[in-house]
Amino acid sequence: MKILTLVGARPQFIKEAVVGEALRAKGFDHVLVHTGQHYDLNMSKVFFDKLKIKEPDFNLSVGSGSHAEQTGNTMIKFEKVVYETNPDIIIVYGDTNSTLAGALVSAKLKIPLAHVEAGLRQEPKDMPEEINRVVTDRLSQFRFCPTKIAVNNLKNEGISEGVWFTGDVMYDLYKKLECHFDYSIINELSLKKEEYVVCTIHRDFNTDNKKRLTSILKQLQMLSQEKEIVFPIHPRTAKRIEEFDMSDILNSFTVIEPIDYLKMMALVKNSWKVITDSGGLQKESYFAGKKVIVVMPDTSWSELIDAGAAKLTEPEHIYESISTNEKDYIQNEIYGNGKAAKKIADILERTYDNLDS
Ligand code: UD1
Repeated sequence: MKILTLVGARPQFIKEAVVGEALRAKGFDHVLVHTGQHYDLNMSKVFFDKLKIKEPDFNLSVGSGSHAEQTGNTMIKFEKVVYETNPDIIIVYGDTNSTLAGALVSAKLKIPLAHVEAGLRQEPKDMPEEINRVVTDRLSQFRFCPTKIAVNNLKNEGISEGVWFTGDVMYDLYKKLECHFDYSIINELSLKKEEYVVCTIHRDFNTDNKKRLTSILKQLQMLSQEKEIVFPIHPRTAKRIEEFDMSDILNSFTVIEPIDYLKMMALVKNSWKVITDSGGLQKESYFAGKKVIVVMPDTSWSELIDAGAAKLTEPEHIYESISTNEKDYIQNEIYGNGKAAKKIADILERTYDNLDS
C-alpha cells in the first residue's frame, strides 16, 4: 500500500516524526510531501534534523500568503504530485491551511483521506484553524481522534462512521524523546529551575488585534517584575509587535528565536508555568506536569481544563490568572498510552481493503 503524507507547519512535523515511523515499520511505501508553509530554518529544517524525519520526497515551496493564496497554491501544486505518485491513501494532520488544501485535493481526486487529530472543535467558529478542521473531518474516511471528547464532537455532528479513538501522537513523541530533551538551553539562557515562565503567542486572533496584543504584552511586562519570561517568538508575532510600535516592551523578556522540539520541551519541563495560545504547547505543558494559562476564549483540549491543568484567560487577566495558587493536578491517560501512531498504522492496514471507493 502506498501512503502519501502531507505536512507543512511545525506541529505537523512533530506528528509526522512518530506516524511516519509507524507507517514505515509496517512496510508501507511512504511518500512525504512538504508544502513549504513553514520555511524558515528554525520553523522547519531543525525539526526534520532533530526529530530524524525522513527528507520530504517533494517540497511545494508554497510559503506565506493570504489564506486563499496559501491554500490555493498548495492545491494546484499538490494535485500534480498526487497524479504523479498515485497513492492509495493520503494522510493530513491537524488544522492548518496545508491540511485543508490536502483534504480538498484528496476529496476531488477520490483518494481515501485520513485525518490525524480529527474531531477537535473550539470557539470562535470563524477562526481559520476551526474552518480547516471542520471541512477536513467532513471529507475524511479515516478520522483518528486524539481524545474521547473529539469522538463525541463528531458524533454530535452526525459523524460516527470511520471514527477511531487512537490517543494523541504528540504524547507518543513526548514519551519517546523525554530522555533526550536538550537542557543545554537552560544554561545558555542562565535560567533557574522553576523560576521562569515560558510564553508563546502566535494565533492571528491574538497577534493581529492590536488591543489584544498590547494587553498581552502589558500583562507579561507586569509579570516580568516577579518572574523571568522566556519568549520564543513566532515570526508573525515579531512582525506585528514591530508594526504596532511595541518593540520596547520586549526588553522586559528573554526573547529568543523559535527553537527546536528537544530544546522547547526542556524549557517547559524546567519552567514554573506556561502561557500560550498554542494547542500543542497546552498539551506538552500537561505532559510535563506544568500549569498552563491559555490566552484564548476557548480550547480544543477542554479535558485540560477539566483536569485543572489549563486555565482559559483573557489578555487583561493573565497576571491574575497565573498568580493564583491552585492545587496540583493528577496526570492520567487522557491522551492514550503513547501508542497512538502504531494504532493508526494498524487501522490503516486492517481497514483499507474494506473501504468502498
Ligand atoms: C500556522 C497554522 C496554525 C498552527 C501554526 C503553527 C494556519 C491557518 N495556521 O499558523 O494552525 O498552529 O502554523 O506555527 O495554517 N512566517 C515566517 N516564516 C515561516 C513561517 C511563517 O516568517 O517559516 C511568517 C509569515 O509572515 C507568515 C506568518 O508567519 O505570513 C504566518 O505564517 P502561517 O504559516 O500563515 O501561519 P502560522 O501563524 O504559522
